Amino acid sequence: MLALVAAPDREEKVELREVAEPEARPDELLIEVDSISLNRGEVNRLALAADGWRPGWDVAGVVLEPARDGSGPPAGARVVGLSNFGGWSRKLAIPSRQVAVIPEGLSFAVAATLPVAGVTALRLLRFGGLLLKRRVLITGASGGVGRIAIQLACRAGAVVTGIVGSAERGAGLQELGAAEVVVGIENASGEFHLILDAAGGDSLAQSLKLVGQHGTLAAYGNSAREQTTFLVNDFYLKDARLVGFFMLGDMVQHPVGEDLAGLLALVAAGRLDPQLALEASWRDAASALRALRERRVAGKAVLHLD
Ligand SMILES: NC(=O)c1ccc[n+]([C@@H]2O[C@H](COP(=O)([O-])OP(=O)(O)OC[C@H]3O[C@@H](n4cnc5c(N)ncnc54)[C@H](OP(=O)(O)O)[C@@H]3O)[C@@H](O)[C@H]2O)c1
Repeated sequence: MLALVAAPDREEKVELREVAEPEARPDELLIEVDSISLNRGEVNRLALAADGWRPGWDVAGVVLEPARDGSGPPAGARVVGLSNFGGWSRKLAIPSRQVAVIPEGLSFAVAATLPVAGVTALRLLRFGGLLLKRRVLITGASGGVGRIAIQLACRAGAVVTGIVGSAERGAGLQELGAAEVVVGIENASGEFHLILDAAGGDSLAQSLKLVGQHGTLAAYGNSAREQTTFLVNDFYLKDARLVGFFMLGDMVQHPVGEDLAGLLALVAAGRLDPQLALEASWRDAASALRALRERRVAGKAVLHLD
């Protein structure tokens, strides 16, 4: 079967190649993948991956064979799920606890946007507890996680500030509910109950200054790929906390199926727009990956396995 595989010598370090068919464990479904979504973390990992490594976290498709232990949806069900490896392939074996059934009327492509970006946004916001009338700062607000986090935070009653790299990248974020969109975190002011930061580097240092008394700063990435230097006095005097979050580590103890189902229901009800901004064939994976790497995607990028 075909799969997108790490190929360090090829454009965007990926190519379609023949690989072995997957074998499902008793708790896994075998699915035929229809759509996959791309994440910045995959772009970053591909940059360093050895030849033959198999990327792919977000998948949506049809169940070919249900799990032999009886868990999960039956053959023929339309599902979306989170795989920790190798999802960019025609067929995939995936634990039944990591999938949810796609509601009628939602496409595979829209569903595929949700596992990494949606569940990350949801779980990060939970660090803030009750968000009603609380100020929430979201860096990388123009990206896949950021756009979903803005909407979920606003649904919970938060007053959201989104940080973007340019005014152009901020287009449309107020329509998603952001109370203010600020170009550059150095221009943000006041104190925040909850900050979600994946830009890393200086953005994390600035976030440590902006987090409020008893507030929470959730660090979940380092898009800048830089070290952070900060004066600890800016932080500890506020009794605030800095927490880390890593989705792929968390999914073992806390499978994503239930959270995914909740997000799908919100999308189906028209209460969450996962901001599908780019669709392409997986044969054009390199150009889609390049667009994401160059920060030209205003939301999520999805590939169809045609
Ligand atoms: N810990 C986890 O489990 C987890 C889960 C999901 C994602 N992540 C991480 O979270 C980050 C966001 O993920 P995503 O899928 O939302 O990515 P994305 O769609 O590419 O969005 C990232 C946003 O970050 C902003 N950014 C700021 N500095 C950047 C830099 N130096 N390089 C690139 N982008 C920069 C960009 O906005 P502007 O162009 O407006 O500046 C971009 O829109 C990534 O670092 C990813 O690896 C971590």
